[in-house]
Amino acid sequence: MTAPSLQILVVQGTIREGRSSIHPARYVTDSFRENGHNTELFDMRDYEIPLFRNRRDAVSDPHPDVDAFGQKVEAADALVIVAPEYNHSIPGTLKNLLDHLYPEYENTAFSYVTVSAGGFGGVRALSHLHDITLEFNAHPGPDLPVSNVRDAFGEDGTLIDETYEDRFEEFVEAVADYAEQFVPAAVDTPETGI
Ligand SMILES: Cc1cc2nc3c(=O)[nH]c(=O)nc-3n(C[C@H](O)[C@H](O)[C@H](O)COP(=O)(O)O)c2cc1C
Repeated sequence: MTAPSLQILVVQGTIREGRSSIHPARYVTDSFRENGHNTELFDMRDYEIPLFRNRRDAVSDPHPDVDAFGQKVEAADALVIVAPEYNHSIPGTLKNLLDHLYPEYENTAFSYVTVSAGGFGGVRALSHLHDITLEFNAHPGPDLPVSNVRDAFGEDGTLIDETYEDRFEEFVEAVADYAEQFVPAAVDTPETGI
């Protein structure tokens, strides 16, 4: 049986000039697409996400870019958060984005690609993302820590460290397997005329 195609939203966590984590974000987006999943990369650089004041569900006129993010989260079967570690946590830009929503995340499968310039793969960012996901009443799932990101990817985004090819492939399959558990089953159409 062919695995169903999922709606995957990859969320890029940083907007810094010269950012490195955009490379694994683009790579994993392409990998999901190659595996037949309907995948979009949400890059905050393409939006003007305001500093948080109120949640989307608490206002009658949410900022259009917050609203766009909310609609994409609602449509997604799985979120893939791509985030480096900033000062032993997640980047403030990402926390600000995530805080704009709350009910939209409920029951969604979360997964994580964490990134560091050194050898620890952003594990403290990962730990904080797990806690945040649980607060959302969502499901923390597979992760792929990327260490030494500037050795793993070239400045043009090319994957240099080939050991990551298999790791990304395994991650994509693990996310799909995990997310399928939480996708509502298709409603059976009753047969008529009996
Ligand atoms: C503000 C800032 C804080 C950082 N803090 C940490 C840290 O606590 N631990 C760590 O392993 N790397 C830390 N780093 C290194 C980043 O994880 C690494 O540079 C990564 O590539 C940053 O992602 P970006 O290129 O998308 O901005 C920090 C980098 C920045 C810019």
